[in-house]
Amino acid sequence: MRNQAMPKHLYIETVGCQMNMLDSELVVAELRRRGYELVDRPAAADAILFNTCSVREHAEEKIYSALGRLKHLKRRHPEKIIGVLGCMAQNHQRQVFERAPYVDLVVGPGQLHQVPELIERIHAGAGQQMEVSLDRKAGGREAVAESFESYDPLRTPEMRPSPYQAYVRIQIGCDKFCTYCIVPKVRGPEQARPPQHIVAEARQLVSEGCREVILLGQTVNSYRFVAGERTTRLSDLLAQLSEIDGLDRLKFVTNYPRDMTDDLIQAVRDLPKCARYLHVPAQSGSDDVLKRMKRGYTIGDYREMHARIRQMIPDATVTSDFIVGFCGETEEEFQLSVDLVRECRFKNSFIFKYSERPGTKGAELYPDDVPEDVKRRRNNELLAVQNAICEEDLQLRLGRTFDVLVEGWSKSAQKHGHHGPSGQLTGRTMWDHIVVFEGNERLIGQIVPITIYDASAHTLFGTVVTNEVGPEVYSLSASWPTTPQQADCNVAGIPARSTGV
Ligand code: 5AD
Ligand code: SF4
Repeated sequence: MRNQAMPKHLYIETVGCQMNMLDSELVVAELRRRGYELVDRPAAADAILFNTCSVREHAEEKIYSALGRLKHLKRRHPEKIIGVLGCMAQNHQRQVFERAPYVDLVVGPGQLHQVPELIERIHAGAGQQMEVSLDRKAGGREAVAESFESYDPLRTPEMRPSPYQAYVRIQIGCDKFCTYCIVPKVRGPEQARPPQHIVAEARQLVSEGCREVILLGQTVNSYRFVAGERTTRLSDLLAQLSEIDGLDRLKFVTNYPRDMTDDLIQAVRDLPKCARYLHVPAQSGSDDVLKRMKRGYTIGDYREMHARIRQMIPDATVTSDFIVGFCGETEEEFQLSVDLVRECRFKNSFIFKYSERPGTKGAELYPDDVPEDVKRRRNNELLAVQNAICEEDLQLRLGRTFDVLVEGWSKSAQKHGHHGPSGQLTGRTMWDHIVVFEGNERLIGQIVPITIYDASAHTLFGTVVTNEVGPEVYSLSASWPTTPQQADCNVAGIPARSTGV
């Protein structure tokens, strides 16, 4: 048995979406409470954890490669514990042990609260441990849903995107079953968290200094919590969260086009704390492809939704996801995605090459018949169209002043260092544009007016407004000077998200 008083060391790697980032944050918080300290190399760690993603094959293969690189370390130090957590653990289950027999721990996203206990068991000599949820077909909906437990214990500030921002889960799972997508299998049935828990968690985060909360759900705008006669929708939740003093900004991702109802768009328009930014993946511009994807809407529906956003919030920025090279996608069908990007002028699009996922309807029904080089070419072509739009639209922001929530040192300042308390800082506007500027570190965590003087494809560059009677600031109280052309425009910028759903 280990000496409990000795600090233990934890290395964790996270891939995938914000939901995974949050899950890792929670696992780390729990392990810290039990005396673990984070280290930045597997060789220095007693426990090496991978929080994994299954959305594309590539993400899974990268984890197996990383595990492969640990084989010798584990041979030399069998006492080190290697764990695979999250979506790939749920997806592959015992297969993980078969491909990497030196892995000690496999834990699905619905069992993450058990990680500390399972590590203790392994230390005590109990051998390999696996905890996963029920398969979606293994029982009734209730039983399956119960086996995917929402994991939202008390939080610690250390692992957040920045101390001033936090992810808050409002929903787990997904019931949409798009034919290409593994998420409903590995994250289980859609379940809404009670609004009072969400509000309590947000209050706690604000009491710790958090100013921006990003609500998470696979289809976050499908959120509905029913208690007796009372139904709470996302728009109601946003109104409740807006009441919290000290909470300045609210965002939510990811939206499902069909559930983008008027009450939600109105809430975003009318609640001054809501960011004017909506991520609503279209996935394809072709009705036939959307049908094969079983997305549940037509491009006509998507256009209508997009027009409603534009009409109600002319300055909103909208971002999308696209899959290129989905089964049977013809050149004409692909061109319809290009047309949609041109028409909607998304602020940004995340573009993915289709990756067949065993266990999905897509894999069962349709051959993955678009050659890899065609997928790559379509990916590049769509990206080029989107990037040109990003660049054009960022130029429209030059000379304007925006309120920016300062998140910390810019990537360049982190890499090359900064001298003294001043250096290059980064933050975001209410339209989710990244802004980089020179400033003092005491601005970190503040909302600061910044005047934009330059733009690259995805970043705005600005200077802090220092004079008291400065230019008009585009905070939400100021009206946005839209020309018809500008009203149609979105601007580029990469939202806080890595690869994944
Ligand atoms: N192949 C490629 N991309 C996928 N996505 C989901 N499943 C797949 C898949 N099998 C994309 C979708 C989703 C984003 C997070 O990942 O565009 O919105
Ligand atoms: Fe659910 Fe989104 Fe996957 Fe569709 S793409 S099944 S909505 S997680």
